[in-house]
Amino acid sequence: MSEPGDIADAALALLSPTAPVRDLEGVRVVVSAGPTREYLDPVRFISNPSSGKMGFAVAEEARDRGADVTLVTGPVNLPDPVGMRVVRIESALELRDAVVEAAHAAGIVVMTAAVADYRAATQSGEKQAKVAGDVTVHLTPNPDILAQLGQEKGDRVLVGFAMETHAGVERAALKAQRKNADFILLNYPTREGTAFGGDDNQVTLVRPDGSHEDWPRVSKREVARRLLDEAARRLPGRVTPPPPH
Ligand code: CTP
Repeated sequence: MSEPGDIADAALALLSPTAPVRDLEGVRVVVSAGPTREYLDPVRFISNPSSGKMGFAVAEEARDRGADVTLVTGPVNLPDPVGMRVVRIESALELRDAVVEAAHAAGIVVMTAAVADYRAATQSGEKQAKVAGDVTVHLTPNPDILAQLGQEKGDRVLVGFAMETHAGVERAALKAQRKNADFILLNYPTREGTAFGGDDNQVTLVRPDGSHEDWPRVSKREVARRLLDEAARRLPGRVTPPPPH
């Protein structure tokens, strides 16, 4: 049984006068969140500080708008949200398998996960003891999950995130083109208040043709709301997206 507190929250959300519009009723939404861990041996891994907050916010917003949500998440310090399927993974390969499987019947896929670009070429089954002097780790590239989904895009709306330290719009537009994403939300890890782990985000929506919109600094939940507004407009049979400006 669900926790009583979760049941009370769900009831309050349904009865609230500010309950969100259920415009995603019947739409399957897949969201990836958090970091991946690429193990070198059983006790050491390569990873990054992604908190998962942005992806969880998208998943919760989609759920509250009536979507059938699958959240695939790397190791983060956040409890499983209620009212959705949650798949916990560690490595990029596990993330790929879970996302690709869930994405089959999905209308919208949002990749907020900070996927490690490389993994150890050979993963040792035993803890590696220290040796004198420098060591070299041989890394091999991980698959690009968003690009893989983009190759068989169909009617699915694909949304990516990108962190850039320079030439952001140009690089994000190229990424959107290369991965066949509908749009990418670009953010800057160095910007105050919106860095890894924060509750706010300030992003720029970038389309493959390079047109873009700067959004103000708002909560991650508000970014999620705007992201899903933009994605929902692109679903087949919905109002066509406004022309880029
Ligand atoms: N992504 C993915 N699979 C990967 C790497 C990234 O699906 N192996 C997704 C991310 O979840 C994100 C988008 O692609 O939505 C852009 O991620 P980013 O790391 O900025 O792109 P990269 O292609 O890795 O580019 P860079 O060379 O800048 O690292």
